[in-house]
Amino acid sequence: MKLGGPAQYFLTPRSRDELVRVVKYCHQHKIAARILGGGSNLLVRDEGVSGAVIQLTNPAFSEVTVTGTSVTAGAGALLSHVLSVAVKAELAGLENLAGIPGTVGGALHGNAGGRNGDIGQYVHKATILTVDGIVHERPAEELSFAYRQSSLDELVILEAEFLLQKDDPDEITQRLRKIWIMKKASQPLSSQSAGCIFKNPRGLSAGSLIDQAGLKGTRIGKAEISDRHANFIVTEEGASSADVLKLVDLIRSKIADKYGVDLQPEINIW
Ligand code: EPU
Repeated sequence: MKLGGPAQYFLTPRSRDELVRVVKYCHQHKIAARILGGGSNLLVRDEGVSGAVIQLTNPAFSEVTVTGTSVTAGAGALLSHVLSVAVKAELAGLENLAGIPGTVGGALHGNAGGRNGDIGQYVHKATILTVDGIVHERPAEELSFAYRQSSLDELVILEAEFLLQKDDPDEITQRLRKIWIMKKASQPLSSQSAGCIFKNPRGLSAGSLIDQAGLKGTRIGKAEISDRHANFIVTEEGASSADVLKLVDLIRSKIADKYGVDLQPEINIW
């Protein structure tokens, strides 16, 4: 959303060793550490974030390699880049995630996905770093993924291997295009947003509930409930996180009053 205050400490380590040192230092000195992915599913409060925010933007964390039918990607790689590497290698599966912004690490952390599947279903193994600086490998059997939920909840996801399937590149590209077109038609992709704000309650659609409640176009400050898709809040230059949070509260209370449904945010709020 490009909103919110600064981090007390912001770090972009240049290697895995440097990252381990930073994480160990934070642990020893009781400094809270958070990992920032691409920031696409995140709202940072206006007050900013105390402690350390670490982002894996260095190329050391975004390598993508193909071996047979598997793709290994660093957590800092953009999901869109991994998709295009897979498609070029004629490997199918990840095209179902077309149009999802952000990094591989962020996508794994929240099991990003949509109607066509989620990232968790393709994971063969993941490498993580614990809060006390220890690297572990987690095979798929030890992992669980559910709707916007993942057991990969240690401090850092370092990389993951995805098991895909050979397919006709034209068919993969066609599927990718179709998903992309559907997304573009129904979501305000050209505006500043954090994607869907709320999780879909079981068997219901948050967007459709907010729409039926007549809330599309409701505005607080420079933040507005999107006219295109009611589960998106779009912001304009000059918006504050407080504007967005007030809209989030307004939506929750209206939907609770009208339908007795307690919407749960899908975005992370720092
Ligand atoms: N709808 C309305 N009004 C609206 C928006 C939606 O009536 O303003 C209706 C649609 O017509 C449709 C139903 O609600 O009948 C569901 O809408 P849609 O197909 O857009 O899917 P969604 O459940 O709102 C989910 C994910 C999206 C993902 C799309 C496509 C959640 C919360 N959202 O949206 O994920 O892109 O499917 O796969 O699970 C995100 O997580 O940030 C996100 C955008």
